[in-house]
Amino acid sequence: MCGIIGYTGNLDARQIIINGLLTLEYRGYDSAGIAFFSNGTSDVVTIKTTGKVNNLAEKLKKNNADSTPVCGIGHTRWATHGGVSETNSHPHSCGNVTLIHNGIIENYHELANMLSEKGIFPVSQTDSEIAAMLINYYYEGDACKAIRKAINMLEGSYAFCIIFSDKPGVIYSIRKNSPLIGAICDEGAFVASDVVAVIDYTKEYFILPEDHIAILTADSFKIYDLHGKEVIPDVMRVNWDIAAAKKGGYEHFMLKEIHEQPEAITKTISPRIIGGLPDFSNDNVPDELFKGISNIVITACGTAMHAGMFGRTMIERYSRIPVSVEIASEFRYSDPILSEKTLVIAISQSGETADTLAAVRLAKSCGARTLSVVNVKGSIIANESDYVLYTHAGPEISVASTKAYVVQLSLMYLIAYRIAMINNKLSCEEAKDKVNGIITAVNNMKKVLKMDEELYLITNKLAKAEDIFYLGRGLDYAIACEGSLKLKEISYIHAEAYAAGELKHGTISLITDNVPVIAFATQEHIYQKVISNVVEVRSRGAYVILVTSAGKHVDTTLCDHHIVLPRMDEEFTPFCTAVILQYLAYYTAVRRNLNVDQPRNLAKSVTVE
Ligand code: G6P
Repeated sequence: MCGIIGYTGNLDARQIIINGLLTLEYRGYDSAGIAFFSNGTSDVVTIKTTGKVNNLAEKLKKNNADSTPVCGIGHTRWATHGGVSETNSHPHSCGNVTLIHNGIIENYHELANMLSEKGIFPVSQTDSEIAAMLINYYYEGDACKAIRKAINMLEGSYAFCIIFSDKPGVIYSIRKNSPLIGAICDEGAFVASDVVAVIDYTKEYFILPEDHIAILTADSFKIYDLHGKEVIPDVMRVNWDIAAAKKGGYEHFMLKEIHEQPEAITKTISPRIIGGLPDFSNDNVPDELFKGISNIVITACGTAMHAGMFGRTMIERYSRIPVSVEIASEFRYSDPILSEKTLVIAISQSGETADTLAAVRLAKSCGARTLSVVNVKGSIIANESDYVLYTHAGPEISVASTKAYVVQLSLMYLIAYRIAMINNKLSCEEAKDKVNGIITAVNNMKKVLKMDEELYLITNKLAKAEDIFYLGRGLDYAIACEGSLKLKEISYIHAEAYAAGELKHGTISLITDNVPVIAFATQEHIYQKVISNVVEVRSRGAYVILVTSAGKHVDTTLCDHHIVLPRMDEEFTPFCTAVILQYLAYYTAVRRNLNVDQPRNLAKSVTVE
């Protein structure tokens, strides 16, 4: 959600900010804005627009600055408080203060009332403008003092970039529960929601510590705690190539990221395979974490939650420890039964999803052990959990998650095997075989990536459908859930996933002539059961796409398309079925001429409840 970039240095700030906002587009937004010091003086120019960053760039061209502005802030807004309008777009100004904000000021009503008693009224419906008003109210020339006073009164989450009209060339920044990174190089100082916005200038960055004030000038980046003591942050280095954040010849980021999956899995699992066995010692995750566990709760949202469903089956299968999967937004308000013997595993690509973060905090407050599986290094969820296992998918730009999902699956395998080994449920020999199985599966996944033409042809029918159903049992049910989500996200076609046996308890009434049903039947012990369910929908006229492993003799009258996976151990089919569901969603959206990488209303990282 909301993208933030601030820059002060020796280059044209407008250009840097627009480029930065374009790289942050993936976060999801519906309007954009920029503010800059027009010519090194106190003249702050603010330009905002609804719609795309390109609209903002066009509008910006019409602004004739006297000289090149070298300091400014830019924002992409995903509307929460107040509809999508130019007035509600950021930056917001009040008196000397102009700011951009990501997060939610929960007590903004209360603060607005307090300010109105002093004759100060907002022009927008946003919570963010109230913060600008509050900081300006306290501002008497000392920016840090005003920010501290205002912050003291704010409840909720925030990442702010603030400029003061009487302090040209200086940007102030502060954050709580919303991400902000900082960077400094020869070209100047940067602050941004994500390192992808600054990667063209530097690979070194740092995470802004929470509730510390950062002061950026053209040649310095200082950070102070709330008592005014300077703090030196740990510098991190981006460990992926800059090309990873560019389209690299693919039509869409999503397609590129689908193709990056085998490599992402290999990068994720390789450092965790020691002597052929799953091992998390390089991650400083001690075996004790997995000993004496009474139950495991996996909590996450969206795609990550589907990876969690897969994880449940795998962990229970091998360690026989009860696992539940909880939607983070439900879990946080469910008064869960947790103890120090509960292991809570939080899965999140971004590491900043508000509900998943709240779930981790709740788990910790109840004394449970917490382990997160996160893709973004140094993110809030990673920092706050007791232990973290990073997935190494690199930056995922397409809103619809693909490679981040399969690397989560790959870690679920390793976690399941490791827990089972530690609890004497899996011998070293067995674990080694399993690890080899993952490696072979990655090769099979490469074969399925070559099935793009076959899958493209199938989507001719899907693209015209109004409803599509996904069926599966066991591991295939978890895959079916992800298949339906992927399709909905980017093609806007109504889709539902059903545990195949459940369909007849109501939903089969929706199956009529030509309604597409995509059935996954890759698990031997329940193969016949899924086939029976396929027969049920087929006899009601469904248009059936059936996915099975190689070597299955399938009655051709049962389906319109039979997709055959390479011959493989059924435990590892999810890597392959994931590619199939991703291609089906992708090509369906492409055929419908939709914005695949930035679907309507969606945000890549959801930092609000
Ligand atoms: C958003 C995204 C989904 C994602 C979910 C969880 O809804 O659009 O693609 O699965 O958040 O995100 P996380 O970063 O926690 O994995």
